[in-house]
Amino acid sequence: MKGVSRCPKALSNSLVLALIISSCCATLISERHRIHNSVNEPDDPRFSLANLARIFYLQLDQTLDATPNLKTAVASLVTQPDADIMDVVGTVAPFTASPGAPAAIAGTPEAAPAQLSIGSIEDKLLNPYRLDQRCSVDSSSEFRRINATCNNIKNPYRGAAKTPLRRLSRARYEDGVNAPRSTFFRTKGDLPTARAVSVAVHETTSNISRQHSHLMMNFGQFTDHDLTLSPEAFGEGGVESPKEQCCTVAKSLWVDNLKECFALQIDAGDPSFTRTCIPFLRSSPVPALPGRRKIRFQMNDLTAYIDASQIYGSTNIRANSLRQFTDGLLKTSTGVGGEERLPMDSKNPANCFSGEEECRFAAGDVRNSEQAGLTSLHTLFLREHNRIAKILKGFNSAWDDEKLYQV
Ligand code: HEM
Repeated sequence: MKGVSRCPKALSNSLVLALIISSCCATLISERHRIHNSVNEPDDPRFSLANLARIFYLQLDQTLDATPNLKTAVASLVTQPDADIMDVVGTVAPFTASPGAPAAIAGTPEAAPAQLSIGSIEDKLLNPYRLDQRCSVDSSSEFRRINATCNNIKNPYRGAAKTPLRRLSRARYEDGVNAPRSTFFRTKGDLPTARAVSVAVHETTSNISRQHSHLMMNFGQFTDHDLTLSPEAFGEGGVESPKEQCCTVAKSLWVDNLKECFALQIDAGDPSFTRTCIPFLRSSPVPALPGRRKIRFQMNDLTAYIDASQIYGSTNIRANSLRQFTDGLLKTSTGVGGEERLPMDSKNPANCFSGEEECRFAAGDVRNSEQAGLTSLHTLFLREHNRIAKILKGFNSAWDDEKLYQV
């Protein structure tokens, strides 16, 4: 692998979509961490980005300990940054099934045999995906949980917030488990840089639709914010991101808090950039769900269901912070003309690009103020919730706050 890293993050389902729309997002790369620094505070600290990343690396170490050839190969990435990893790995198959292990299930790329048993005490205690998640089916389960666990009773984590993103295709890491791709596997040689691909694929054209209004695009973004938020490494709790250092510190020193660096190289003669490096951090790693291959996964901070989580939140902490706890109503603030607006969120740092105080709004999704069209839709649905809650209250005077809110 030569120079700074070259290819984009592993493609998870949401990131494919993100790449498609990246032409409209290109100028916003530097803004990203401000938004992602505000990912949902977990209801259970075991689901924090820091803990999940720790468990991922613990599993990775144990995986590598159990496959010494692979461990040597991965170590060489750090000590010999110019080595071609495929020469080092040779024909090692890191995930050969152990005798008696069940075969992979067709059509589910990550559902390979659980060939390595990860059994450290720390993993057992702190890996939240190992908890025995039971789903009660009684009166207490009248309404779905805010984090979507137990939406699927047999598969309690399916689509739940703070679990790994599902993949559309098998992961192809350079080292099989964690390192981003940088070379062609079959023909050898380096992949083109992400920027070279971007320049070749995207062109600026004006293509005004006669069928769809601008609302189409806004509703697309609004719907995405119901479905996915892939946090950047170190993206929780407003921690100062080491991203800038990804371009200033030598790659051989990308360890500790720089190990998630993946700075993007800019080729000479680029049509827009004169600088040679764009600072970039990978998405935060999470461990695999039980029974899946122990490779790096990316996290979805939100519930994967279309369940209006951009309005209500994907954690209890966020959901509760948005509620009035009276008559089922959601909190609001009042605009300059007396209009009902989203509530303010002083803790949401510069969520809007203008950086103005008056667009630091709170909603189920932290990206609510990314652009005015999106904020409008959030406002519309907030008002709609409160309008319906008031009507229901009129019809059902005995309903308490919880019932009015949930229904
Ligand atoms: C002015 C409009 C928009 C702005 C400013 C914007 C901005 C952004 C930014 C800054 C990111 C993070 C990029 C990164 O991770 O490196 C992002 C991600 C994403 N955007 Fe947009 N976007 C816009 C419109 C849209 C639209 C119209 C859609 C869909 C129809 C969309 C879907 C997505 C998706 C799926 C992601 C990945 C989400 C994740 O899993 O983290 N965006 N957008």
